[in-house]
Amino acid sequence: MPGYPVLPEGLAYGGDYNPEQWPEEVWREDVRLMREAGVNLVTVGVFNWGLIEPQEGEYDFSRLDRILDLLHSAGVYADLATPTSSPPAWFRRRYPGSRLVDREGHVLGGGSRHSFCPSSPDYAAASERVVATLAARYAGHPALAMWHVHNEYGWANAHCYCPTSAEAFRAWLRDRYGDVGALNAAWGTTFWGLTYGSFEEVEPPVTAPVGLLTGLQLDFMRFSVDAHIACFRRERETIRRFSDLPVTTNFMIPNCKPMDYWRWAAEVDVVANDHYLDSGRADPHIELAMAADLTRSVAGGRPWMLMEHSTGAVNWQPRNLAKRPGEMRRNTLAHVARGSDSAMFFQWRASRYGAEKFHSAMVPHAGTDSRIWRDVVALGADLRRLAGVRGARVTADVAVVWDWESYWALEFEWRPSADLRFRERIEAYYEALWREHVTVDFVHPSADLSPYRLVVAPSSYLLGEAPAKNLHRYVEAGGHLLVSYFSGIVDENDTIHPGPYPGALREVLGVAVEEFHPLREHETVTLSSSRTGPSPATGRIWSERVRLTGALAVHEFADGPDAGHPAVTRHDLGAGSAWYVSTALDAESGLRGLVARVLDHAGVSRPRGLPDTLELVRRGDHVFLINHADEPATVTGVTGTGVLDGAAYDGSATVPAGGVVVVRT
Ligand code: GLA
Ligand code: GLA
Repeated sequence: MPGYPVLPEGLAYGGDYNPEQWPEEVWREDVRLMREAGVNLVTVGVFNWGLIEPQEGEYDFSRLDRILDLLHSAGVYADLATPTSSPPAWFRRRYPGSRLVDREGHVLGGGSRHSFCPSSPDYAAASERVVATLAARYAGHPALAMWHVHNEYGWANAHCYCPTSAEAFRAWLRDRYGDVGALNAAWGTTFWGLTYGSFEEVEPPVTAPVGLLTGLQLDFMRFSVDAHIACFRRERETIRRFSDLPVTTNFMIPNCKPMDYWRWAAEVDVVANDHYLDSGRADPHIELAMAADLTRSVAGGRPWMLMEHSTGAVNWQPRNLAKRPGEMRRNTLAHVARGSDSAMFFQWRASRYGAEKFHSAMVPHAGTDSRIWRDVVALGADLRRLAGVRGARVTADVAVVWDWESYWALEFEWRPSADLRFRERIEAYYEALWREHVTVDFVHPSADLSPYRLVVAPSSYLLGEAPAKNLHRYVEAGGHLLVSYFSGIVDENDTIHPGPYPGALREVLGVAVEEFHPLREHETVTLSSSRTGPSPATGRIWSERVRLTGALAVHEFADGPDAGHPAVTRHDLGAGSAWYVSTALDAESGLRGLVARVLDHAGVSRPRGLPDTLELVRRGDHVFLINHADEPATVTGVTGTGVLDGAAYDGSATVPAGGVVVVRT
């Protein structure tokens, strides 16, 4: 099975193509413009169910036939979608039991997409039938490069609380636990006397008067992932009866919290991701880089596909900022630098109707006499020059631990502080590494860690015994570990590990935490510079009483609830070391310096003396230099050919303000 689409050569370039929203004369202009921009792949038919099956069992493929033939005649490949994320109005009316029910018990409406229960047998039957009909018809069509199943599983309908889902959840629990006693033990139901006498008594975690059993909540999250994966598998296996082309679905890493993409990755032939810039952030390109690194990691390091991003503004943020000149190019090339073999957009031509009419596109409402169109054409030329990067790998010396189960559990209600947020700490450490020009992989805590010199665990609240042992063995064998506070606290059932915190990591870190001392909103604490430490730093959010049980103190708290006690520690264990940070170090005064120091201690080599606004990533023999600053940046130590500009670089390269240089070494 090919890892990515069967395109003639180079990177895939294009977007979601929805010609059904336009009269046919526009289609001919579309394919002419696609050729002008160098588009070679478009995603077709994503929301077409109501168009290809206008009434139950009655099909009309005439339009899709013409679209696929036209694309083929223009040399543009199709990523043909199954239309199952948007069930037709007739389906909803005929099968009311398939309707999505939210936590509060509201039945969610139609006139929208994703409005169905993933556990509905009626949905299963109807979706399998339309997919089989579609796959049988088009399996041999010469325009086809790959199959795009559904759209963004688990985004709008991650959890359904209808009676059918409740029954499916109970069946899932029976399967997981065998008998209800095992379930009671796992969830700790002696608490509040919430013991279940049988599986029939278990309800999904709908809105309750006060705090719900967290084991119940965790298992419902897991069940919901399985429910969506089952939907995907059904469609994939249906397609397989007719076609051997690669099958994928578009993930939403990392912005779809309910989907555990470590689990999803094994299901697809190629990992595909949708990523939209969060334009409200100060440096949104750092979150973009994190998304791309996490996507590559979910793909097991293999090349992946950027299935959707935007040429400009989206329509669903509070304030939808247009991309500034050069920003789209930097965004796209950063994804390619970090392992994407494609650059796809939502969408080809801006819609005039419905919810997304203010979303940018490759062909904007303004038409081709526009900056966006000229940039789209120029980007196509860039991507053709980058053809040689296809299939190349990115390697990393540093890994950051990411576990969706920890994400979920950390953010259940009734935690020690509202400021404990999974992504807040991950992003703080990721940014410090990004500014040090260190490319990272993300790992599940039970992954093989031996390829890495340093493993960073900023948010590993939930950590079972086996993954904790994995981290321990990694350090003993010579690895270096950097852990932030409120990690290693609970096991896979959200049960606190026995004894002082952090139960799962006490031994490897050589510390014991006696009591948490969360800080008030905006309160800060100061760290003393120790014998070995640099200048004093400040901390936010967290302080705690750390006792040394083998580690040494690198910094102490100078004030606050834990004045005079350790704030940052290091434990030399076996051939490695384990560092622990018990507050949210301020980025400028503390975290960046500490991360640099730990990188040095772990022997992680990286370029020095570059502006921290310059993104530097090596993919195979291509070095990507992306300048996010308003002034030019000079990078030394690069020798080779400029792939985008044709220049010869001999020892140094100057990257224009806001520009990108790619050197093939
Ligand atoms: C109330 C309840 C207790 C406990 C405490 C926690 O007082 O009666 O059961 O939940 O709150 O603060
Ligand atoms: C998602 C969907 C697209 C579109 C875009 C808008 O990625 O897959 O259909 O709605 O968002 O940003």
